[in-house]
Amino acid sequence: MAKRNIGMWLYQNSGGDVIQKKMIKKLKEREIEVLPNINLKDALAKNGHIIYEMKNKNLKLDKLDLFFSYNAGEQTPYQVYLYKALNRIIPMINSYEAFEISEDKFHTSFLLRKNGIRTADYKLCNKDDTYRLQNIMQKWEKMVYKPVDGWGGIGVTKIDNIEALNMLIPFLNQINLKHFYVEKYVDYDNTDYRIDIVDGQFVGCYGRKAATGHWKTNVTSGGSVFLREANDEIVNLAINATKVLGLDIAGVDIIFDRKKEEYIVLEVNGIPAFATPEQEKLGLNFNDKKIDLIVDLIDRKALKKG
Ligand SMILES: Nc1ncnc2c1ncn2[C@@H]1O[C@H](COP(=O)(O)OP(=O)(O)O)[C@@H](O)[C@H]1O
Ligand SMILES: [Mg+2]
Repeated sequence: MAKRNIGMWLYQNSGGDVIQKKMIKKLKEREIEVLPNINLKDALAKNGHIIYEMKNKNLKLDKLDLFFSYNAGEQTPYQVYLYKALNRIIPMINSYEAFEISEDKFHTSFLLRKNGIRTADYKLCNKDDTYRLQNIMQKWEKMVYKPVDGWGGIGVTKIDNIEALNMLIPFLNQINLKHFYVEKYVDYDNTDYRIDIVDGQFVGCYGRKAATGHWKTNVTSGGSVFLREANDEIVNLAINATKVLGLDIAGVDIIFDRKKEEYIVLEVNGIPAFATPEQEKLGLNFNDKKIDLIVDLIDRKALKKG
């Protein structure tokens, strides 16, 4: 079989550079050559080709056998636009279709619920129909407003009472949204499970805990990471959610709803970070397994030549 060539764009901070080196080495052993650090933001689309200048040579990305896109922090609208185009021609991990769904909280919840996967109850309404939020509030008592495309807990706002809602609505109206997405506030112990899945297989689990007196588990909102064992129910929930969304790689966040006494999927991340060097010291030891599963996946999905 002829040598295969793939493009890679993997975050370089927080130990990503080391992960990339290991991955490239393992792919080389399978005669898969990697062109690393290809940020589509620098590419030019021209007459049926997507061109990337590398070492003074014009490389046609559409001739690659696969593209591995794994960088949430440096995402830009132009890069995402070309991700979609390239995905029509060559295999991409994750596929653009799955990536696009996972980038949007409403589309994710909609599809999960449609397929019988438990999530927080949610409602989406037109921005002009705020009276609906008032009705919802009366029913739910507490809800969480979320930007559908947010991350890191930013903008995720708890609404405890009707007065808080009435204060929030004029603010939301100002920021020119198409719609409002809200979830029922889930009574939980302010900890979550992050389950990493690659190619339908369980990779690893860790927990996150909100800071004392806080309710959001995001590390960027003051939460902390801790070692945590998964159980079969959680793992199966994560595997099923990943499958429904069509993701090759996912990090599924799960919490335990104390009222309903069941686990629910809180969100699904299509670009879940590897354990950082500090987290590895803490005992999060799934990076090598994750690399191996991704290498297998790339080997299987890259176009076969010869
Ligand atoms: N419906 C909810 N009920 C209770 N807590 C929630 C709910 N939704 C989110 N949270 C808390 O807020 C955090 C951020 O919400 P999340 O949907 O994961 O958005 P982000 O993409 O910003 O991480 C979660 O990690 C969780 O701790
Ligand atoms: Mg989250």
